[in-house]
Amino acid sequence: MLSAPISQEKSGVARQSVFITRAIPEEGVAVLNEAGLTVHVNPHHRPLQPEELIKEVGRHDGVICQMVDRIDQKVLQAAAGRCRVIATCAVGYDNIDVAAAAKLGIVITHTPDVLTETTADLAWTLMLSAARRAGEGERVVRAGQWRGWGMMDFLGTDVFGKTLGIVGAGRIGTAVARRASGFRMKLLYHARTSKPEMEALGARRVALNELLESSDFVSLHVPLTEETRHLIDEKALGRMKRDAILINSARGAVVDQDALIAALAGGRLAAAGLDVYAHEPAVPPELVRLENVVLLPHIGSATVATRTEMARRAARNVVAVLRGEAAPNPVRLP
Ligand code: NAP
Ligand code: GLV
Repeated sequence: MLSAPISQEKSGVARQSVFITRAIPEEGVAVLNEAGLTVHVNPHHRPLQPEELIKEVGRHDGVICQMVDRIDQKVLQAAAGRCRVIATCAVGYDNIDVAAAAKLGIVITHTPDVLTETTADLAWTLMLSAARRAGEGERVVRAGQWRGWGMMDFLGTDVFGKTLGIVGAGRIGTAVARRASGFRMKLLYHARTSKPEMEALGARRVALNELLESSDFVSLHVPLTEETRHLIDEKALGRMKRDAILINSARGAVVDQDALIAALAGGRLAAAGLDVYAHEPAVPPELVRLENVVLLPHIGSATVATRTEMARRAARNVVAVLRGEAAPNPVRLP
């Protein structure tokens, strides 16, 4: 058993309790404590197994989870009855069965906005690193294999002045686009509705095929949905310029990972920068062996300030719902 029984106040009234599926910054816990909630945190330095999660969720009034927790129908059914809110410390919520939660009357919340700029910085980290072969260069230096400056060594591709195609022009996609002005890039974007903020940046809304065919860099910022799963498949990759670079800091399954490996290995695509993978934390050895891909461990929002704010935000959502107020950041059914 992970949590102690619900603590009792002197009056004998059970205090409401919140379960945190894995450690979060203490500022988030402080928000819960200040609201008078009893807090239980998974003591293990690992995500919980599904059966552990199922055992735990129904014992609490609220849960703070992370994107590695699969909040499916089984977990939600176990939570229902007592648990009124599940707050994920992420903006993406593809790990949660939102429709099942709605049917069971459990409020789902997430953490938009607070991580937008940090994640946009990471997309640019990948873009610049992939273009300038930074990972490859660092591996050579660290291995003691650098033989000195060479006119023909480590030749990458310029970023400035090129065309950047943003797929999914929401909060993060727009923040990525804003940074492109310093690089004097031409901007294209693809989304289902037009985005005035993107247009104000000089970006032109185009169909996905046109974006893929015309962009030197393609950066993905769509949520993972049934519509966007494998949006970038073999056919889509085949439409990209041979010297183009694909950046994925959205979700691994937005790209057909096997098709991407084949395109990178076969010279069909110049390079890629990835923060996310199809089956995290597994990264296929075929991908690891490729020099023309930058691989990061899903760290888009990983700065101290941003993770702190995400924890606070998740906690405030829990507090609001447990007080009978509207959650500041509810996930709404489409
Ligand atoms: P957002 O503001 O909701 O933006 C997503 C945009 O995608 C929306 O504006 C939407 O515009 C567009 N979109 C949705 N479905 C689409 C489709 N089928 N085709 C084309 N465009 C589509 O979300 P965000 O805050 O920018 O976050 C985006 C995603 O980034 C998250 O869902 C998460 O998966 C990922 N993320 C990753 C990290 C990381 O650590 N790597 C960190 C934060 C977020 P329309 O509705 O007009 O199409
Ligand atoms: C991270 O991937 C998020 O969705 O916040």
